[in-house]
Amino acid sequence: MKTHPIVPAEVDFSDPSAPSAPAFGDVYHSRAGAIEQARHVFLGGNDLPRRWAQRQRFTILETGFGLGNNFIACWDAWRQDPQRCQQLVFISIEKHPLRKQDLQQAQQHSTLVDLADQLVAAWPPLTPNLHRLSFADDRVLLLLCLGDVHDWLRELAVEVDAFFLDGFNPASNPAMWDSHLLKAMGRHAAEGATAATWSVAPALRAGLAAAGFACERQRGFANKGGMCVARFAPRHKLHQPAGRLPLAPHARQALIIGAGLAGAACAWALAKQGIASQVIDSLPGIAQASSGNPCGLFHGTLNPDDGLHARFNRAAALQTSHWLNALPALPWRQAGLLRIELKLSLVQMQALIANQGLPCDYVQALDAAAASQASGLDLQQPAWFYPGGGALPPAAYASAMLEAAQAQTQLNCHVASIHRAGEDWQALDAQGQLLGEAPLLVLAGGHQAINLLHGLAPAMPLLRLRGQLSHLSKAEPWPRLPVAGIGYAIADGQQGLWCGATSQEEDMDASLREADHQHNLAQWAKLAQLAHLDAIPQAELAGRVGWRLATSDRLPLVGGLPIAGFSGRQDQTRFIPRQPGLAICMAMGSRGISWAALCAEVMAAQVTGAPVPLEACLLDAIDPARFAVRATRRPRS
Ligand SMILES: Cc1cc2nc3c(=O)[nH]c(=O)nc-3n(C[C@H](O)[C@H](O)[C@H](O)COP(=O)(O)OP(=O)(O)OC[C@H]3O[C@@H](n4cnc5c(N)ncnc54)[C@H](O)[C@@H]3O)c2cc1C
Ligand SMILES: C[S@@+](CC[C@H](N)C(=O)[O-])C[C@H]1O[C@@H](n2cnc3c(N)ncnc32)[C@H](O)[C@@H]1O
Repeated sequence: MKTHPIVPAEVDFSDPSAPSAPAFGDVYHSRAGAIEQARHVFLGGNDLPRRWAQRQRFTILETGFGLGNNFIACWDAWRQDPQRCQQLVFISIEKHPLRKQDLQQAQQHSTLVDLADQLVAAWPPLTPNLHRLSFADDRVLLLLCLGDVHDWLRELAVEVDAFFLDGFNPASNPAMWDSHLLKAMGRHAAEGATAATWSVAPALRAGLAAAGFACERQRGFANKGGMCVARFAPRHKLHQPAGRLPLAPHARQALIIGAGLAGAACAWALAKQGIASQVIDSLPGIAQASSGNPCGLFHGTLNPDDGLHARFNRAAALQTSHWLNALPALPWRQAGLLRIELKLSLVQMQALIANQGLPCDYVQALDAAAASQASGLDLQQPAWFYPGGGALPPAAYASAMLEAAQAQTQLNCHVASIHRAGEDWQALDAQGQLLGEAPLLVLAGGHQAINLLHGLAPAMPLLRLRGQLSHLSKAEPWPRLPVAGIGYAIADGQQGLWCGATSQEEDMDASLREADHQHNLAQWAKLAQLAHLDAIPQAELAGRVGWRLATSDRLPLVGGLPIAGFSGRQDQTRFIPRQPGLAICMAMGSRGISWAALCAEVMAAQVTGAPVPLEACLLDAIDPARFAVRATRRPRS
């Protein structure tokens, strides 16, 4: 999906009973009351709360988030309902989101102020992303898709139980009501889905009918004569493609191989979906392989064309911020990150941010003086500042996730093989003894688990990249916040500094190398723009060696593993059937801290069939089946 800069809403608050959008010449809600309108038209019209009673999950899709009143009314109805579904997923698509201060103003007199305050507090940076905001211990999820409704409806991997059609007046806002939109609704409708809207325009009702909805006119809200409610009753039911079927929709237990960042994140994401995990690791402690580095960076990125990598990194960084905010404070977590720019001028950097409309709570361009002030270094170059980025100790992050998940850990247990036995997957040790079994098995074993993939799935281009970090016990100067660019430097809180990192393909030497230390120190000298670095006695240098697992396209492997030898249609990942009960979350490359949260949320949604919190084009980009698809596209010689 090509992204477009987000243009925030300009709201006219002059009439306190009904804020309006001058650009559309319409009010955001009826003057008779926003919450009351939501209850009558959208909840009542979809027969809610009755229809969500006792369900595991109920999914609503709204066109036009606006001031968030429909969401708040729905959340309130859910919390008041003793029969409420386990999880309420509210997806809303909004092209012109409010700035945080405007949302606060719009909600300042809300009758549901406790909910409105939580929404305002969770309001994300206004980037063109699918923002996953969670409330009520993850039992109420808001998937906020910022951008045009047509773009997003093409990209969503979701099944919807109820639609709230709430664009502005069709005359001033036709894009929110046209036949393409209504047809797309039909493609996302679950069996028995319903829709409701305050509009009774004949063209809308005809469009809904053409999209497979049976419409009915009901009494409207306040002074409105009528409203439209509809039930999905298609002539032909569309089936979900094989590659998008839930991997283990009934599983309540999972076996996860790997207690690093990926495995811990998977355990937490699954716990939020009601799945308990047993996490097995060969090593004696949590996060002792790649994730055992003393510290590492996390942040988004940006590039001129907002390509796949920049978009995925941004989505992942935003998700990581939410997760970190939901966990108890991690020891030695540093907030904010500086990335020194070596090619572009400040003016070019500012132009890039402006072209993409990226907000300052996501990224800022600092001149050399401001970057120097922020970092405490004497910098001659401008730098990108990521307020939501930072540094943290990965093992503490992994432990916090496992604790939040209440996962069982089984350490010192090496899995030599896995296989399917009836409806379960089993993990066995080298002697063939059973280590664990469950209806869902998640491979999250980093570079040491490559051999478990042999014979299980078509070959994938994987690389192991050795990396060495160097530690200086006394650093002068000492950066006040993590700094990256050529390499990176993270202060250790005690006058020392971790500098990294080297990268060598398929080099399995575990010893610390003097040449690698020199490389890291030289990078630090360049990064901090030091004229020279005093020779550091060998005794003052320490370090750590680890291996990253990466794919050839430098994106992770997340989702179901293709069935080996499958001979059907393979030109798109969604057609490729997956092994039931088996998921993978590996190949985190150099970005395990930034990626683990989003990858795990995506994997967990694919397991249960919940709405996937990532757009389809990025989902394809991290799908383990992408290599099989690419192989079919390559011309045969
Ligand atoms: C030098 C260096 C610097 C880095 N810097 C950063 C950084 O700044 N920011 C960042 O985000 N990332 C960084 N990374 C990358 C990051 O460390 C990894 O992406 C991340 O740790 C990968 O996590 P993982 O859980 O996939 O793998 P791991 O942490 O390796 O965990 C996998 C676990 O699975 C276990 N396992 C594997 N096979 C089996 C089996 N058969 N049976 C039982 N257990 C098994 C292993 O023992 C291991 O504990 C760096 C990496 C290196 C090497
Ligand atoms: C009536 S308001 C929605 C009110 C909202 N449901 C609430 O509860 O406050 C309509 C919303 O549709 C949004 N919108 C208009 N055109 C759009 C488009 N093409 N794609 C997505 N959103 C759009 C507007 O910015 C506006 O916020």
